[in-house]
Amino acid sequence: MERSEIIAKQSQYLFGVSNYYQEPLVMVRGDGQYLYDSDGRAYLDFFGGILTVSIGHCHSAVNKRIHEQVDTLQHVSTLYPTIPVVELAEKLAAMTPGRLQKSFFTNSGTEANETAVLLAQVYTGRHEVIAFRHAYHGRSQLAMSLTAHAPWRHGPTAIPGIKHAHSAYCYRCPFGLTYPSCDLRCAQDMEELIQTTTSGEVAAVIAEPIQGVGGFITPPPGYFQEVERIVKQYGGLFIADEVQTGWGRTGKYMFGIQHWGIEPDIMTSAKGMANGAPIGWTITTPEVAEAFQGLTISTFGGNPVSTAAALGTLDVIEEENLAHNAEVMGGQLMDGLRELQRTYPLLGDVRGKGLMIGMEFVHEKKRPAPDLTVAFLEATKKRGLLLGKGGLYGNVIRVAPGLNITAVDVTEALTIIQEALADISVP
Ligand SMILES: Cc1ncc(COP(=O)(O)O)c(C=O)c1O
Repeated sequence: MERSEIIAKQSQYLFGVSNYYQEPLVMVRGDGQYLYDSDGRAYLDFFGGILTVSIGHCHSAVNKRIHEQVDTLQHVSTLYPTIPVVELAEKLAAMTPGRLQKSFFTNSGTEANETAVLLAQVYTGRHEVIAFRHAYHGRSQLAMSLTAHAPWRHGPTAIPGIKHAHSAYCYRCPFGLTYPSCDLRCAQDMEELIQTTTSGEVAAVIAEPIQGVGGFITPPPGYFQEVERIVKQYGGLFIADEVQTGWGRTGKYMFGIQHWGIEPDIMTSAKGMANGAPIGWTITTPEVAEAFQGLTISTFGGNPVSTAAALGTLDVIEEENLAHNAEVMGGQLMDGLRELQRTYPLLGDVRGKGLMIGMEFVHEKKRPAPDLTVAFLEATKKRGLLLGKGGLYGNVIRVAPGLNITAVDVTEALTIIQEALADISVP
């Protein structure tokens, strides 16, 4: 099929899809850090299908596990235990911080978060949940209500009992303060939020350690410790949504929340844990899991093929110490981007951890620049580099390559980014 025919069929037969770029790219092949379009052109992929292809496209170790599993046993549902699902659950209990031990598998991050909130409500016997402004947690009615971006909600917030705390968006501090003299005012505000907008008895707080769709908003040191202290004081559980931040993405640690030393009561993930095979995952402590009695089922949750893909992916991440690689490569990328920020004032903020780096584009006086962001995205595409976009104002470029990239990839990306910045800058 020709590119134009594929695009025409997409618009005729699909709905709810939005593509990047004025002329959408049709991808036909992936190999390592490269994607190839329908004209055979190669692109250095620094967004990995939204932080999902964590160890490169069509990785042979993952594909081998998938092929073997498809040829052996494809689906039985949760009515029967299988080898890959118990192997994966055991591995996850060992990888996660604190006392997290019991897993429930689904098919997406949305379902993982649905499961987490339900668990917290069942365990505490309470209903109200605190989420954060600028958060994204998925596309079900509950997940859209937790999400705090008008454009990602379709209709009013359907689920009651969700309150949104201030996010630690230091570049645009909601209190007009500066870290560290702010004394973490945004975190402390959570106490007043609970006292004034809830019954005082909350089931949980749900937090992305670094807000993904929100534009890689990265809280300062101490922030989540304060949030946890307040939520615990009011009897709520701490849910870490690691859908984007998990699996070494933020460098050094396996999970983003470990940068703040928090041991969550419930953790969720999806995306990068199976390198592109559909999976959702919720893990909790034995006591919280114990509270969940009665019938529930996810037909495809924990299916042998996705769990085999996850086992293959996590083996590579561990064996190749990719959390460390993300820290080192992320450091090089961050240094390069901060250097460019000195030359290009339209780069208002460069933030993040590991290989999760946001570049916020602004006009004068920090006015969001979605126009420059789109122009930059087109200019990088033209030069063969794929990046992501995000932020409430659509003015943040998200840089999130595979965890196993090399210094050569970093240099290539930085060169293209520099040329694209020069392209869109007003002389
Ligand atoms: C932090 C976070 N949570 C949850 C989700 C929802 O995951 P899914 O699209 O797999 O339902 C996303 C998706 O982008 C996400 O970024």
